[in-house]
Amino acid sequence: MVVLGIESTAHTASVGIVDDEARVLGLASDFYQPPSGGIHPREAANHHVEVLPTLVGKALEAAHTSPKEVEAVAFAQGPGLGPCLRAGATVARMLSLAWQRPLVPVNHCVAHVEIARVLSGLDDPLLLYASGGNTQVIAYARRRYRVLGETLDVGVGNFLDKLWIGLGGRFPGGPAIEEEARRGQELLALPYSVHGMDVAFSGMLTASLALHAKGANRPDLAYSVEVTAYSMLTEITERALAHRGRNAVVLGGGVACNGRLREMVRAMTESRGGTMFGPPKSLCVDNGAMIAWTGQLAFRAGVTTPVERSAVQPRQRTDLVPTPWRPD
Ligand code: ATP
Ligand code: FE2
Repeated sequence: MVVLGIESTAHTASVGIVDDEARVLGLASDFYQPPSGGIHPREAANHHVEVLPTLVGKALEAAHTSPKEVEAVAFAQGPGLGPCLRAGATVARMLSLAWQRPLVPVNHCVAHVEIARVLSGLDDPLLLYASGGNTQVIAYARRRYRVLGETLDVGVGNFLDKLWIGLGGRFPGGPAIEEEARRGQELLALPYSVHGMDVAFSGMLTASLALHAKGANRPDLAYSVEVTAYSMLTEITERALAHRGRNAVVLGGGVACNGRLREMVRAMTESRGGTMFGPPKSLCVDNGAMIAWTGQLAFRAGVTTPVERSAVQPRQRTDLVPTPWRPD
């Protein structure tokens, strides 16, 4: 059985086709890059509407699959930007009606967790989900993915993007800062903001831009921001492991592409005798395959939605989504 999944929560429009063993048979993505500054939701949505039909064709072709072999159509229902979500949901509803296949709603954050979990082979890991819009430490307990700790202001990726734009660069900031940090030499003091299981980044943003205005160079700033921000994430992940008595961590979200973050979390986990797993970058960033895989799990557990009740949920919370495919 193959499921087709559509992702369109923010910058990325993506279509994935995945079989019942989580093999990614086809994946086609296209990113909206704002001409300057941050994302404009309506312009991103227009981009998604334009590219999604072609991406469906490309994913089917890559998977050597015809619509007849697709058993269900999954889509990211939330959380995300309303206009972007509606673009993907509209295409999913249309395919569901045209192909007469069930429609399966998927939570975007749960999808980051599930693709990392299946690829890791770990049964019940803790997840550090670090992306543009979200920064959460997640563990499964009593029928839900529970958010144990999270950002109190912006997502870590959003922070990196805003900082990079403030330093004169273009979106996306995370990969550019990673590159720039390689040339950093001096560790500058920046606000380290951990509150129990939670973190915050806006103080570090203000302080970094102020240091830059006073003449701090970009490589040192990039290096210091990476070390400080990723230390904060490693600390809350370690605290969660200790409290939950777990020893396995998986990473997800676009910021999980970062080599320094991976190494820091790996070193911490291994020093506790545990294991860390990070998926390949193409499956850390937003992608249709994670929606298709979570759609597989949900569909097999009986989750489908009638078209008329398939409204998008821009603020859908990770811990409010039922997960009937997981044993209690
Ligand atoms: P979500 O809806 O889950 O918040 P998103 O829209 O932010 O997702 P993702 O593709 O998961 O999309 O993540 C994009 C973010 O990842 C951007 O903020 C980008 O700067 C960041 N990022 C990508 N690569 C790297 C990297 N190598 N190092 C640090 N950050 C990175
Ligand atoms: Fe995401």
